[in-house]
Amino acid sequence: MVSEQLNRGLRNVYLDRTESSFIDGEQGILLYRGYNIHDLAAQSSFEEVCYLLIHGNLPTQEELGAFDKRLRRQRAIAPEVVETIRLNQKAHPMDVLRTGVSSLATHDPDTDDMSKEANVRKSERLTAQVATVVAAHERIRKGKEPVAPREELSHAANFLYMLTGAEPSAEAVACMDLDFILHAEHGANASAFAGRVTASTEADMHSAIVSAIATLKGPLHGGAAEAVMKMVLEIGTPDKAKEYVEARQPRIMGFGHRVYKAEDPRARHMREKSRELSARVGKPEWYQILQAVEEAMSRYKRHGIHVNVDFYAGSVYYLLGIPEDLFVPIFAIGRVPGWCTEILEQYDNNMLIRPLLRYTGPMDLEYVPMGQRQG
Ligand code: SDX
Repeated sequence: MVSEQLNRGLRNVYLDRTESSFIDGEQGILLYRGYNIHDLAAQSSFEEVCYLLIHGNLPTQEELGAFDKRLRRQRAIAPEVVETIRLNQKAHPMDVLRTGVSSLATHDPDTDDMSKEANVRKSERLTAQVATVVAAHERIRKGKEPVAPREELSHAANFLYMLTGAEPSAEAVACMDLDFILHAEHGANASAFAGRVTASTEADMHSAIVSAIATLKGPLHGGAAEAVMKMVLEIGTPDKAKEYVEARQPRIMGFGHRVYKAEDPRARHMREKSRELSARVGKPEWYQILQAVEEAMSRYKRHGIHVNVDFYAGSVYYLLGIPEDLFVPIFAIGRVPGWCTEILEQYDNNMLIRPLLRYTGPMDLEYVPMGQRQG
């Protein structure tokens, strides 16, 4: 039976059931497999959150140790993948990441194995390797050789190390680890939905992740953090924020959300990190500008327009010395376990995702041979 209801953008439409995350947009609540994002942000690690999402429960010390070891040992990427990155080095880092993951599929031993065990192995490998692809591109486009991953470093520490070749500070690692936790999973967001659509045709895990990466790139989704930082640099000083906001309506990047009509619960953690970091590195102006923009936008709160996870994230990356065009790839590094979890759920109880479009064009037109067509 076809529903006559037209839901553009699939707004407020439930696609399926899930156990990966719970989002209450009215109350601003986010749970990963039942655990509150505030507890995970305060007490967990990205590796533990990856285990929770992919394997479905909080690990014992032994389970986490074995999982972490598998991630650390699978970070390296094939030389052919590095060459693919080198050939495409002038492209945007998200395009290189999308191409790099396609290249990873060529060299993954499990690519065409669609068993649950193989798909879980690929989820772990992709979680480990995506950071390596991003870091390798950053080094190559700067005319340097990629830095080999170091097994003794955590995921966040190793990513920052591979970006620069220098061991990162404990504070930078804590920022990156928290950022990855906050970005790890978020239900049927556009990129996860794209991954599910691809998986619903029984295409392989790498193909589904490539769909997700391509979708995340857009400024209405993952690209917001890059746009927010460009806005902050354009504003320049806190006293110019109000005038900028009023002149730039209707869209201020980093604000609004399809689901949250209260503040995005992830935003407070990035706001605090931005405040701490900008004070610590002696650049309070970036945080002050963001605060001034948030103040200038406060009248939108009654319409359900609040800051989202990306509003403060960009300033944290910027203060860590990360180039703006790497902000979305960093979002992707955090989101890989969430995408994989959604794709595993799709495979587990699959149904082809194929909605309808309501035709509004002309009907039954008579075909006119070329010679009789009026110019
Ligand atoms: C992410 O879905 C997810 O879960 C995504 C994400 C995740 O973890 O995966 O949370 C990550 O993508 C966060 C969002 C990052 N994007 C941005 O910050 C870009 C700016 N935000 C907007 O473009 C917008 O809020 C969207 C795209 C995020 C959501 O848009 P919707 O749900 O389609 O809502 P809409 O565009 O129809 O706006 C509804 C109303 C409009 O007012 P009216 O025309 O009805 O009067 O809200 C207003 C909009 O004008 N509005 C804004 C606004 N966003 C929406 N007004 C001012 N500034 C904004 N940013």
